[in-house]
Amino acid sequence: MQTKPVKTAVVGCGIISQVYLRNMTRLFTILDVVAVCDLVPELAQEAARKYGVPRVMTLEEILADPEIELVINLTAASAHYDVIRQLLLAGKHVYTEKTMTARLEQAQELVDIANEKGLYLAVAPDTALGASIQTARWAVDHGLIGEVTSCIVSINRDQNLNAERFRFLRSEGGSLPYDVGIYYIQALLCILGPVAQVTGFAAPAPARQRQFLFNKDDPEGWQIPGNNLVTGSLRFERGALGMLHFDGNTIGAECSTFRIYGTAGILELGDPNRFGDPVRLIKPESPPCDLPLTHGYNGSCVLDDATDFERGYGNRGIGVAELAWAIRKGRPNRLSKEMGLHGLEVLHGLDETARTGGVYTMTSTFTCPPLKAGIYSTMWGGGARADAELSLVD
Ligand SMILES: NC(=O)c1ccc[n+]([C@@H]2O[C@H](COP(=O)([O-])OP(=O)(O)OC[C@H]3O[C@@H](n4cnc5c(N)ncnc54)[C@H](O)[C@@H]3O)[C@@H](O)[C@H]2O)c1
Repeated sequence: MQTKPVKTAVVGCGIISQVYLRNMTRLFTILDVVAVCDLVPELAQEAARKYGVPRVMTLEEILADPEIELVINLTAASAHYDVIRQLLLAGKHVYTEKTMTARLEQAQELVDIANEKGLYLAVAPDTALGASIQTARWAVDHGLIGEVTSCIVSINRDQNLNAERFRFLRSEGGSLPYDVGIYYIQALLCILGPVAQVTGFAAPAPARQRQFLFNKDDPEGWQIPGNNLVTGSLRFERGALGMLHFDGNTIGAECSTFRIYGTAGILELGDPNRFGDPVRLIKPESPPCDLPLTHGYNGSCVLDDATDFERGYGNRGIGVAELAWAIRKGRPNRLSKEMGLHGLEVLHGLDETARTGGVYTMTSTFTCPPLKAGIYSTMWGGGARADAELSLVD
């Protein structure tokens, strides 16, 4: 008997919703997208038309609709706490874009509400369920690099320049560590498990007096809140040590670094903001080689009419589908609220120790089982959607 699809609504019809909606309406049998919602009704109307979603609703209507089981929160991070809190209190399961909230105490409150009400709360980025990061997890779990000893991750952007285009980056949660560093943290958590301790140094973003690229006549200045440059160290529960470097105060030519070192080899990953970058294995006695990706969802677009933008953002939505299967199967979902809280606590610990000195000992923990391997999204030119989706079921 076919499993009943989960009736789902999307709140926030901005830039990233295009990728989610296209994938959620067409890639996964487990999702039934029944409504879209935005503070700007025209955006929701356009999304409904473009992706064939039957209803445009207000948030209040979604809260009151007993048929809607799961809501996808695609608002900016500064709005997450309010939106998620209302949804949980109304009894909805929630999948939210990163970060869960901009502040740790708010995230803890949401986790507590979800626990009290027995609701799922899943947290992006879902690139952690993509082919590259799952392949790295497989390689580590199967001992290809021996015991993991350490790791190093780094990303840079000109976040002030990005904030000219994406205004939400000027509000809480818009600094580079929160907006982009979280991809690196989530990937590390997925591959290496929970962190025991962190310590960091940090610097704020320079205040921006005016626009340079867009709306040059706009007199409004801004300063991205929080720390826009963080360097830090981690000690994982399993003993490995790690280095983080997130610099949003430099140029936008991204130099993504992601390496995991072990007693018997080194893994070099691409950008964890993507789904299918190569995973390179470096061993002492043979030339480095790219591992065949063991998992599906490598970001290649299986929908033939996607725009370049949608293609670039890959398989976003697999975390939603994995959550929907978890709901139907009554099992824990992988991108759990505990994992989302833990990633946010790493960022919080870096901020705290940058302010006060010393070392921050983590209070949260989580588990995240690997996805099943061996199911590919590219069979028969990508037509085997249900086959690929099998890897998300259990
Ligand atoms: N833009 C990207 O490249 C990108 C990539 C990955 C993840 N994300 C994440 O996705 C989220 C959204 O990003 P975006 O770029 O689409 O932002 P956006 O500003 O383009 O879209 C957000 C939308 O949410 C709506 N909104 C805000 N509060 C609302 C509320 N209370 N009720 C209904 N609608 C509301 C806004 O009107 C807006 O249309 C953020 O958390 C961001 O970090 C963005």
